[in-house]
Amino acid sequence: MRFIIFILFLIANFQAYAVDHDQVLQKVIEIYQLKKSSCDVNTALINKNLIPLGKLLFESKILSGSGDTSCATCHIDKHSLADALPMSVGVGGSGEGHERLNSNGIVVARNAFTLFGRSTADFNTFFWDGMVQEIEGKIVSPIGNGYTYGFKSPLSVAAIMPLLARDEFLGERRLLFNNQHIESIDDQYYFDRFLATNQIIRSIPLSSNSPDLGVLNHELKLIGVDTLSLPLVGNALASFITQKTLTECEPSDWDHYLAGDLRAISATQKEGATIFFGKGRCSGCHNGALYTDFGFHSLGVPQGELGPYLHRQDIGRATVTFDLDDRYRFRTPPLIRVSQTEPYGHSGAFSSLEEVVLFHINPIPFFEKYGWTSEREELTYGRILSTRSEILGFIDISSNEELSSVVEFLKAL
Ligand code: HEC
Ligand code: HEC
Repeated sequence: MRFIIFILFLIANFQAYAVDHDQVLQKVIEIYQLKKSSCDVNTALINKNLIPLGKLLFESKILSGSGDTSCATCHIDKHSLADALPMSVGVGGSGEGHERLNSNGIVVARNAFTLFGRSTADFNTFFWDGMVQEIEGKIVSPIGNGYTYGFKSPLSVAAIMPLLARDEFLGERRLLFNNQHIESIDDQYYFDRFLATNQIIRSIPLSSNSPDLGVLNHELKLIGVDTLSLPLVGNALASFITQKTLTECEPSDWDHYLAGDLRAISATQKEGATIFFGKGRCSGCHNGALYTDFGFHSLGVPQGELGPYLHRQDIGRATVTFDLDDRYRFRTPPLIRVSQTEPYGHSGAFSSLEEVVLFHINPIPFFEKYGWTSEREELTYGRILSTRSEILGFIDISSNEELSSVVEFLKAL
């Protein structure tokens, strides 16, 4: 008798532990209100008349000073609109993807994002440091409130920021046109850059000798304007990006699961999802339809020796707020299509999903494996490490099986 009671006791416990992941996930979906597809866009961002102009500006090199760079150079179709490089290579570079590493291009010292998911209504914070943000009906950006210039959305402003960045675009325009405005772009702050760039952009239809010029003039005629302006360029690029990411987006396996197809993801991925939303605490920061809180946190990601700021380091959010507490904090990256956009981290330091997820839990194995880029990095890393978010201490992933199930889940996003 005792033996039977013991067996019953075992079975009851076994059932209690044999978690039905679908049931748990149903609760998670309810609580987090996860119903949106990663392919949703805010169609209000599309001005149909501007799509052909946006496509031309995105794909042709007409906007780039040295005629060697377009948006599509770094936001590449076959890499899910990222560039598969740790850090991007801008003007002066040649080729695509890894070929650019062997060229003489200027390094843009950050990892490129995909553009999928950037056209949703609630996507209000752009770039690793949140340089462009919509706050209380204003587009806060280095050029001031974008709405007052006629930009239609924060995406429109974000889309022209590369044009103001010397290394991504305008770099060597002086070689082409000997344009005096480049001097003010080199030397002064963003507002002056805006004015100066606008001036350059306005002169493109008159002075460019690009083969795409005829097409550009044709497009401008169709919409009834003679010259380009930055707001027009931004709105056209945003219309095109929105249209492109709407029509070319394949719903993910997780989208299918959310839509009710319980077989769309594997049992391991379901386990990973329960950890992601549960004891893994991932959704503490990676939450919402795109798996970001649009907040800024530090993981203490190694900088290498190529950061864009003082001592070749990247202090992240602090470059925008000038707040010491914001040093080394970066916008939580959205995780849609994340398995297609390696390498990872703002400096592209992590070559795989396993590596970056493990780094959240414990940064030491990373340095054991790779060592330090330099003695200076070894000596200064303590300061970066001390800024790591406290939330990371609550991540409870304690076996390699759990780690790999979370990574499997990320592949479904
Ligand atoms: C030299 C490579 C390069 C080129 C050229 C380039 N980008 Fe990017 N793009 C990047 C990198 C790197 C980032 C991340 C930069 C950061 O956050 O500081 C980025 C970020 C963005 C973002 C913000 C995405 C987000 O999640 O916040 C948008 C929008 C964008 N680029 C659009 C464009 C458009 C439009 C063009 C053409 C006008 C363009 N890019 C040209 C490399 C490039
Ligand atoms: C404290 C907030 C926070 C928590 C909790 C968190 N992350 Fe992150 N995650 C970030 C930030 C911030 C970055 C980018 C850091 C950087 O590059 O400096 C990041 C980067 C990533 C990346 C790389 C994405 C890319 O495009 O480069 C992945 C993947 C990721 N996190 C997955 C996870 C998983 C899985 C968990 C749970 C185990 C988790 N994160 C928990 C804030 C967080």
